[in-house]
Amino acid sequence: MDDLNFQERYKIYLQAIEEYLSNCFTEETPWNDLYNAMRYSLLAGGKRIRPALTLEFARLTARNMAKNAQDNNWRRAVPIACALELVHTYSLIHDDLPCMDNDDLRRGRLTSHKKFGETMAILAGDALQAEAYRMILSAADVDAENRAECALILAKASGADGMVAGQVLDTLREPGREPEYKPGYKPGREPGGTLEDLALTHRLKTGAMIAGACELGVAAVNNNKNLRETARQYGYALGMAFQIRDDLLDVIGDTQEFGKPVGSDRESGKFTFVDALGIEGCEREIEFYTNQAADAARNLDDDCFLIDLARNLAGRVK
Ligand code: IPE
Ligand code: IPE
Ligand code: MG
Ligand code: MG
Ligand code: MG
Repeated sequence: MDDLNFQERYKIYLQAIEEYLSNCFTEETPWNDLYNAMRYSLLAGGKRIRPALTLEFARLTARNMAKNAQDNNWRRAVPIACALELVHTYSLIHDDLPCMDNDDLRRGRLTSHKKFGETMAILAGDALQAEAYRMILSAADVDAENRAECALILAKASGADGMVAGQVLDTLREPGREPEYKPGYKPGREPGGTLEDLALTHRLKTGAMIAGACELGVAAVNNNKNLRETARQYGYALGMAFQIRDDLLDVIGDTQEFGKPVGSDRESGKFTFVDALGIEGCEREIEFYTNQAADAARNLDDDCFLIDLARNLAGRVK
């Protein structure tokens, strides 16, 4: 697979991811409605950037161990990569619920609760989360010790000090929302927040999962400490650029292309990077964090996949 350009490599990763995911939750069961709801969100055509990052870091880690390593070593990490995509998908289903962002459109189709009702949407999310750990712990081609490390990485990235913490800060900080909770991390501050709060929220709600995806790729192959650190730095920087671009697309994007409602943040009174910095300010921040990601990856990224991905995402429209 060497000498592939960015688009070719991304396409190969996408094929492996889609193939694996499309074979999940296909059995006939008396609770088939649950499987249908899980598959509905899972197979709705997400960009799959997180699992693609896991696979690329797995490939780079294998190559780092032996320069002449077979270039398809990354394939063993496919279940690990897809596990994180299951958790990401659960986070989106729950993020869209009326008690959270209250959105009707996701990945170009009705959100889970609009299609199946709130109860099923919550349960589909719950099931996707648990199934992710089953997927990691049964990944046949990954050493037992590495599987355990991967489960830990995913738990940290998505849990109470990761994505969910970010969702708490994000969701409960919306101005106009009944103060069920006063942000506890800085007592006395009213919902609305500062740029500093916003950066922390973005780091947690989005950065943690993207950095986790990168770290998973390393841990699935060889839990090398230095590569884990590179993966984290790249992932957190990319995550910031990614979420600022998401905030921007919520203002300047096109619903059809974006696959989710434009103007949703404004409608729910969210304070975003666009409010804080304006459109040009956001563009500058995206550039800054994209460069930071590129710098973090430079020594490892022989084929420039990571740098090309960061550059592509900086200008994405969906
Ligand atoms: C959406 O993530 C949630 C954010 C962190 C902005 P993506 O933009 O990666 O969504 P999909 O997976 O491609 O649908
Ligand atoms: C969501 O951030 C991050 C998650 C952890 C799901 P947003 O609420 O901005 O994501 P979208 O715009 O709904 O995809
Ligand atoms: Mg949200
Ligand atoms: Mg949302
Ligand atoms: Mg958004």
